[in-house]
Amino acid sequence: MRKQVIAGNWKMNGDSGFITELVNGIIKESTDLNNIDIIFIPPAIYASKVIELTVTSNIAVGLQNVYFESKGAYTGETSTEMAKDIGASHILVGHSERRQYYGETNEWVSKKTSCVLNNSLTPIVCLGESLEQRESGKLEEVLGAQLSEGLFHLSADDFSKVIIAYEPVWAIGTGKTASPEQAQEVHAFIRNLIKEKYGDTVSEKIIIQYGGSVNDKNAKELLGQADIDGALVGGASLKVDGFSAILKEANNL
Ligand code: 13P
Repeated sequence: MRKQVIAGNWKMNGDSGFITELVNGIIKESTDLNNIDIIFIPPAIYASKVIELTVTSNIAVGLQNVYFESKGAYTGETSTEMAKDIGASHILVGHSERRQYYGETNEWVSKKTSCVLNNSLTPIVCLGESLEQRESGKLEEVLGAQLSEGLFHLSADDFSKVIIAYEPVWAIGTGKTASPEQAQEVHAFIRNLIKEKYGDTVSEKIIIQYGGSVNDKNAKELLGQADIDGALVGGASLKVDGFSAILKEANNL
């Protein structure tokens, strides 16, 4: 059975005081949750602080983005080597907000994913369709391209280290979540594409998280689906009670 992996993507939210309270609060609520993996993904500028706060816990810390070069004249960017240097373990790649606002393409996703893997960190690669794409019947085409152009250059060994997050763009920050059946159908579709490319062993091992308005009310049913192996949580990860409740649901599955 695959382990549930629950990550909180804090996006561009929080300050030192807020983050300290949030981290300490969630650590307190999650000390006995041994069946799941938990990841905090704070704004990069606070990542070192969060790593210090979590050092005696089982919680991993990731960054929301990196550039694929290791150093140089790239003002404003952070390298995977720097992320590794401070003790981060996971990197979000290709989040829909990066695709939408910063022009991140499948080609960049492929370069960033390789770079993260080459540095022995874990990429969490986001896939997802817009409402327009879903309604015009392009869901399979869009997800297929995101997978094949972004990830299918990897060897089977490397691919099996990737975490995939299916985040339908229309469900992000809207309060409109995919129904458990809708999400399961897409997760099964993604796993099947992986099976066609890499075979059974890899496709059965790969973690596919769901993201998009996950909260303490809908987590149990979503996470209970056969091909949903965790959640990438935005808004609800900024609340001690809400996020802790999601962690407990996942741990009790
Ligand atoms: P929300 O949970 O706020 O919808 O955000 C989802 C998301 O984008 C996580 O990466």
